[in-house]
Amino acid sequence: MRMDSRVYPDLDALSLAAVRAMQRIIEQAVAERGRFAVALSGGHTPARMYALWAEGAAGRTPWEKVHLFWGDERFVPLDDLLSNYRMTRETLIAHVPIPAANVHPVPTNLPYPAKAAEAYEIELRTFFGASPPQFDLQLLGLGIEGHVASLFPGSPALEEKNRWVMAVRAPAQPPDRITLTPAVFNQGLNTFFLVSGENKRDIVNALRSEADSAPSKYPAGRIRPAGCALWFLDHAAEG
Ligand code: 6PG
Repeated sequence: MRMDSRVYPDLDALSLAAVRAMQRIIEQAVAERGRFAVALSGGHTPARMYALWAEGAAGRTPWEKVHLFWGDERFVPLDDLLSNYRMTRETLIAHVPIPAANVHPVPTNLPYPAKAAEAYEIELRTFFGASPPQFDLQLLGLGIEGHVASLFPGSPALEEKNRWVMAVRAPAQPPDRITLTPAVFNQGLNTFFLVSGENKRDIVNALRSEADSAPSKYPAGRIRPAGCALWFLDHAAEG
């Protein structure tokens, strides 16, 4: 597949470039729509980007106009070590004056994952209205077998046309997860794939060598957002 990619020496440089590119999107979104809504990624890779954002490394953010959502979440309490929300709170939210009402975590305190997915879809509908959300920016990581958010190879969520949010079982720890579906990710106005480290090299090459004409074997290749999609890679992932 054709990948619009940029390659940086290391995770630090990649993260700074991503924060700078995001800052331009924030300015534009706030000027055009009065707010910036972002779907955040979990995993380890974005932590440095969040910390740089909190530091104001690319300039001042109008926090009262920023809305944080999550592209996926693990079904664990929000203070669990494996929670994507917790990682974001520690690297970003705790350090910036964002109003609490602008932070929209997946409600993993509900009794079971399908309930949390349902509640999160209602939260998205309340914010975005009836048509599928168009995030100003969605951040996505890449798993070594090609997963993005919690869309793993073979997941029924990849075929979902109507629901925006689903509870899924992932072949990873923890297995119970909540994820946005391609019905949402394919609407994104801007998408950044953040990919760092040598262990991602094989999957980056595999995605690159797929033909654009056939449906991708990998969830990452199934995300073809309407807007601009950029791949931020470091040298180790690029190979
Ligand atoms: C999650 C994710 C997931 C992640 C990739 C890459 O909740 O696990 O959102 O899709 O982005 O697994 O993770 P790393 O950045 O840790 O390699």
